[in-house]
Amino acid sequence: MFDFLKQKKQSKSFSPLVTDMHCHLLPGVDDGSSNIQETVECLRAMASVGFQKVYFTPHFQANYPNEENDIQKRFATLKKQLAAMDDGTLPEVAAVSGEYRFDPRFARRPGVDNVLTLPGKRLLCEFSLHFNDYMPIDIFAEYQKLGYTLILAHPERYPYLGIHSSEVKTMKDMGIFFQINVLSLNGFYGDTAMQKGYEYIEAGLAEYLGTDTHNMRYAKALKDTANNKKVQKIMKSHTFLNSQL
Ligand SMILES: [Fe+2]
Repeated sequence: MFDFLKQKKQSKSFSPLVTDMHCHLLPGVDDGSSNIQETVECLRAMASVGFQKVYFTPHFQANYPNEENDIQKRFATLKKQLAAMDDGTLPEVAAVSGEYRFDPRFARRPGVDNVLTLPGKRLLCEFSLHFNDYMPIDIFAEYQKLGYTLILAHPERYPYLGIHSSEVKTMKDMGIFFQINVLSLNGFYGDTAMQKGYEYIEAGLAEYLGTDTHNMRYAKALKDTANNKKVQKIMKSHTFLNSQL
């Protein structure tokens, strides 16, 4: 009895973002959710912290050799299944895009490969956490020439990339956007990534936030992050571009 009174009220801290533009919830295609039940539970958690709309961004990299056509077919099937399961607790699952790895083992070529983008030809990119001598600046410039906007996922997570580095300056001078993982702000990836996450935001170098949700461990951490007072302060004092998506 009165169990509901004991439950901690879930903060909808991320409501101002409206949209999450980075998650791995297409079942069975990468290191994200393993089945549709897990996808649904993660989506419910995202809605509970304020997200109304979600884009799926499966990995495209050497370890997950996904093909764009196959990913789109899988997504269309999943959309139908989700529609049948929606009890009003799910956010809108808008579309499937991708998180494209650029490292010495893998890089999609602009104008050659059919990349899956977020609306407005926005391409979500990531680097390896390990290769520190590979900066695909030339490839990024080629994408930009073809009208793509590049968004670098979680710059705070690359141990070799300093916020005051020449690489960051170059990317910012080129007009490359940065997306910080919200879980970084609650220490999910360690103290260094947390500190860098806040630094990027405070320096005005982070235009987007993403959840990068993979599974229920991330979903639980997302709820904890939404209740973090420092994160709540950031959400009130800063504006991000997520709602444009
Ligand atoms: Fe990701």
